[in-house]
Amino acid sequence: MSNVVDDLPDYVRRNRTEWDSWAVDFVGNGERSWRLASGEEKWGIWDIPEADLHLLPDDLDGLDAIELGCGTAYVSAWLARRGARPVGIDNSEGQLATARRLQQEHGIQFPLIHGNAEHVPYPSGSFDVAISEYGASIWADPYRWIPEASRLLRPGGRLIFLVNGLLLMLAMPDAERPATHHLLRPLFGLHRLEWSDDDSVNFHLAHGEWIRLLRANGFQVEDLLELRPAEGATTEFPFVTLEWARQWPSEEVWKARKPPSS
Ligand SMILES: C[S@@+](CC[C@H](N)C(=O)[O-])C[C@H]1O[C@@H](n2cnc3c(N)ncnc32)[C@H](O)[C@@H]1O
Repeated sequence: MSNVVDDLPDYVRRNRTEWDSWAVDFVGNGERSWRLASGEEKWGIWDIPEADLHLLPDDLDGLDAIELGCGTAYVSAWLARRGARPVGIDNSEGQLATARRLQQEHGIQFPLIHGNAEHVPYPSGSFDVAISEYGASIWADPYRWIPEASRLLRPGGRLIFLVNGLLLMLAMPDAERPATHHLLRPLFGLHRLEWSDDDSVNFHLAHGEWIRLLRANGFQVEDLLELRPAEGATTEFPFVTLEWARQWPSEEVWKARKPPSS
């Protein structure tokens, strides 16, 4: 793996700069999320309870887990509390600084790596679980990070990742204004998106393309969950309203698995 800035793809460099500047805005969410006990975990921009979604495997005890784009690493902390041995990798030193401080405050230690989740410095077959909540799942190129997740997972290993809903990505004017009721961009060819209001780059695929990519990298697709916030739910993010998200999925979770070895 190279962490030399000049060797990184343009979008990794651009996202690193943006996330280092946004890290301060994510401290509060990191602190709140680290405080959630096992069974109380909440996902995504609407804080949907784990008890309703069941994103985490039932028995994590003793499993090796990698969080791809861990940010403040609260998901890794949840995994550790459930008995797993997590490793977090993130592209932003600013985000990792918060993660390290929260590790100290909560007395939960696990490796945190500064790097690009498209190239993780661990041998093939090191992990049983790979997870990403709005991490590499939207900020890295799926044609690079999905093969890397497959390489990292053992036979039977699980991949769980949360992304923005596909329809939301077609209906959002930009990252600062709420989604419309109109389709604003084509589905065909959907891959790299750049919003007009910042310098970040994110990635989204049509559902059929996700299925083909996962299968081409040795995964069996187990589920695609379309998340619906509860009535009265709130979010601090400006790009979607509750009225919209009650009608169409603003968030989606893919669950896939490497077949067990025969
Ligand atoms: C929204 S945070 C995800 C963490 C947390 N689950 C959350 O929702 O706050 C997005 C994180 O992805 C990281 N990221 C972006 N591109 C990445 C890449 N290529 N490799 C690893 N991490 C990346 C960013 O640095 C940022 O910390």
